[in-house]
Amino acid sequence: MKVSAAAFVGAATEPGRFPPPSRPEIAFAGRSNVGKSSAINRLLGGRKLARTSNTPGRTQQLNFFDVDGRLVFVDLPGYGYARVSHAQRAAWRPLVESYLGTRGVLAGIVLLVDARRGLEDEEHALLDFAAAIERPVALVATKIDKLNRRERDRTVAALRVAPASMPVIPFSAVTGEGVDVVWRTIAAWTEEQRGVPARAPRRRS
Ligand code: GTP
Ligand code: MG
Repeated sequence: MKVSAAAFVGAATEPGRFPPPSRPEIAFAGRSNVGKSSAINRLLGGRKLARTSNTPGRTQQLNFFDVDGRLVFVDLPGYGYARVSHAQRAAWRPLVESYLGTRGVLAGIVLLVDARRGLEDEEHALLDFAAAIERPVALVATKIDKLNRRERDRTVAALRVAPASMPVIPFSAVTGEGVDVVWRTIAAWTEEQRGVPARAPRRRS
């Protein structure tokens, strides 16, 4: 998928206070430092829109990016980083659940998993939440470039715990592996959603 224009459109730091819904949204979720922002940048053709960092837990807000006026990528704050403050950790769940649980335009969730860690309690909780709100999820195994052939086969097999409808996509923001597959998945979700009557108001210009 070729993206010709992408732009930051807003951030949210408090439950319920999100930019007005306009286009279908794709949420990028995952552990802190797993590579959410890097994946977004790579999917957007190497743009450096989402801020990436070696410091885990840097992004504590939801960041919204318009993609060609067709859809919106939402970079969710990462979870599971022990060294953020207690208050920051306590704020994560209401913020993210408020977004996921109320967003009519949410077309699907890209759940990034570190290829070497696999699914842990937090990922299972997110999968349960996504099932409850009836949104599709793709499991994206990031940093796959760091694994050798045998490790990667084992990792991908271990992630196939989920229903067959849930894609498991080996991915690397460094090599670009998996970019096309993620885009195809997103395209399928947004087409599916177009069949549903839009709950969102028209975008104000
Ligand atoms: P938070 O915003 O803190 O939750 O982190 P994030 O999930 O947005 O991670 P980010 O994209 O900032 O990446 C974290 C670190 O991992 C950075 O140093 C990236 O360069 C690195 N990284 C991200 N994706 C990949 C990848 O596919 N391969 C390799 N080798 N490194 C990656
Ligand atoms: Mg980030």
